[in-house]
Amino acid sequence: MAAKRSTPSDPSDSISSVMKETRLFPPPASFAATAHIASFAALKKLRAKALRDPEAYWDAQARELEWFAPWKRTLQWKHPHAQWFVGGKINVSVNCLDRHCATWRKNKAALIWEGEPGDTRTLTYAQLHREVCRFANVLRSLGVKQGDVVAIFMGMVPEAVIAMLACARIGATHNVVFGGFSSEALRERINDSKAVLLITQDAAHRRGDKVHLKKASDAALSECPTIEHVVVVQRTDERTAMKGGRDHWWHELMDAASAVHAPAKLSSEHPMFILYTSGSTGKPKGILHTTGGYITQVASTTKMIFDLKDDDVFFCTADIGWITGHSYIVYGPLANGATIVMYEGAPNHPEPDRMWSIVERHGVTIFYTAPTAIRSFMKWGESWPRKHDLSSLRLLGTVGEPINPEAWMWYHTVIGGKRCPIVDTWWQTENGAILISPLPGATPTKPGTATLPMPGMDIDVVRKDGTSCKPNEGGLLVVKHPWPSMLRTIYGNDERYRQAYWSEFPKSRTCAGWYFTGDGARRDEDGYIWIIGRVDDVVNVSGHRLGTAEVESALVSHRSVAEAAVVARPDEIKGNVLVAFVTLKTEAARGADLVTLREELRDHVAKEIGHIAKPDEVRFTEALPKTRSGKIMRRLLREVVAGAAISGDTTTLEDLSVLEKLRSGDDE
Ligand code: WT7
Repeated sequence: MAAKRSTPSDPSDSISSVMKETRLFPPPASFAATAHIASFAALKKLRAKALRDPEAYWDAQARELEWFAPWKRTLQWKHPHAQWFVGGKINVSVNCLDRHCATWRKNKAALIWEGEPGDTRTLTYAQLHREVCRFANVLRSLGVKQGDVVAIFMGMVPEAVIAMLACARIGATHNVVFGGFSSEALRERINDSKAVLLITQDAAHRRGDKVHLKKASDAALSECPTIEHVVVVQRTDERTAMKGGRDHWWHELMDAASAVHAPAKLSSEHPMFILYTSGSTGKPKGILHTTGGYITQVASTTKMIFDLKDDDVFFCTADIGWITGHSYIVYGPLANGATIVMYEGAPNHPEPDRMWSIVERHGVTIFYTAPTAIRSFMKWGESWPRKHDLSSLRLLGTVGEPINPEAWMWYHTVIGGKRCPIVDTWWQTENGAILISPLPGATPTKPGTATLPMPGMDIDVVRKDGTSCKPNEGGLLVVKHPWPSMLRTIYGNDERYRQAYWSEFPKSRTCAGWYFTGDGARRDEDGYIWIIGRVDDVVNVSGHRLGTAEVESALVSHRSVAEAAVVARPDEIKGNVLVAFVTLKTEAARGADLVTLREELRDHVAKEIGHIAKPDEVRFTEALPKTRSGKIMRRLLREVVAGAAISGDTTTLEDLSVLEKLRSGDDE
């Protein structure tokens, strides 16, 4: 099916939002008592002030960092290209390391790492600084210059963090490629970015098995003419073929390198990294982020949203191959001098309680994960978290897709012991930092909404004609004013940048030209933003536009359902009918009567939302096709129900056998 974006064809043709959620969770008084932003009133005041003068707000945030030279202009905006802190000189690794090494934090744990087999390593700020300086010298000795692109294809090992920071230190632009990608996906990303050097490892531990990253690299590199050197970390005892002149062992180079390195004084707009995102459609886009604006917004949001204090232990479960790993494992927490926990392996290895044993072992205070992970934890059952003392936790976070209220309540009750606020954070790879989120000491939360835009952000829900939607009227989520950590372009394809983000609401006599997120949303009577999902996932049933995420949320609220994906199938009479793909909870699947359950689920949706949303068909499946970052690939499911051949980019598919099963119909 054509992946044409469907937007309302006229202003009155808005998206019907059917989700109703009335539970309200004010910040616990004990939490607010010590929070950086300690009341809703204070937050409202801050937001209003920042909205009147965003540049003054960001100017003050940038001043929290260490700069070699001040900027002359806060923002230079030539639609759709922004430059922030123009003329300023800065180095991100100095802000993440050197700055803290000059204080008592020198011997504070920066990184607590746990390998999947159970080995651990801790690096203090001073130790991490030394490693980064040495690797910066290694990169320079291999001829890497300021502005060169360095590809990183690694698992979750400390060396990946060291490599990223070393690139930032010398002004090389890093391009981290998720370690689970195929060699074709790696090759495409290396060639598109023209990387000169690749950092990888022999193999990574995953679910008791090994992922052979060096082998995959070798396969990719047979057709990567720009790569001159490969640096290989030895993580396992696998035999590894090394190509003379091209391949070098990390430990050999590091042994010979000096731990003294003078950081590059980079201009604020220096390209810091490229990160490829494919979402669920099309050829991957190289999202380009620059230096000063990125680190300003990432550092400031980390501090406010996670209410970071010096005794916190921050555990973000994302992979460094995603933007969440960049911004909230590495750069945001380290810029704040925090202690981060990093875990190498699978969440259910050796048992489904691995995350909770990590929380207990290291005294994690802040835990940040994704709804898809939370639904897996629910599916495995609450006996696993119950085995552990989770009382060190004080704050929980989620990111990646709308969290269904059912999962929110489970997270709140079973993991958070009803005492931890939950920050539901909305943002995108393109945004660099969190744009919509509650502040845990200030914002009363409701299960399923990321609540309000962060201070300094001008965000609206609008109709196709650009007018603002009324409360509870669904529309399109836009950003109306540039922000420091926004993407600057799509690497090597500025035309696609303009098309993808700036063509929906172009600059005109009546419109300043807005960034379109691609998401549908509604704002409730309190101004809270509810994400309805990607507008590509909005379907029209009998003239009503429904966000499939809401139907999924209704399905998942049924006690037997672990996960659900809903797509449309074209229908002569209704325009579209809904087809639901459902995976059952482990217990529920045992001996279930699927015929009865199917009817029960259809009725359940009708009861929760209304007859209009009742799926025509419910198909049970063991797993859903997902991107590597855990997003359900609805495009593929649409093709499955339409009986069409699978087309387009599938390099982000997690498990093709899942798709094969669905297509051959043996899901039932
Ligand atoms: C898309 C961006 C940014 C880190 C992870 C995803 C969806 C993200 C939320 C949330 C509802 C969310 C949106 C967005 N999304 N967070 N809290 N509530 N939806 O990054 O791969 O660039 O995807 O993820 O649809 O546009 P990404």
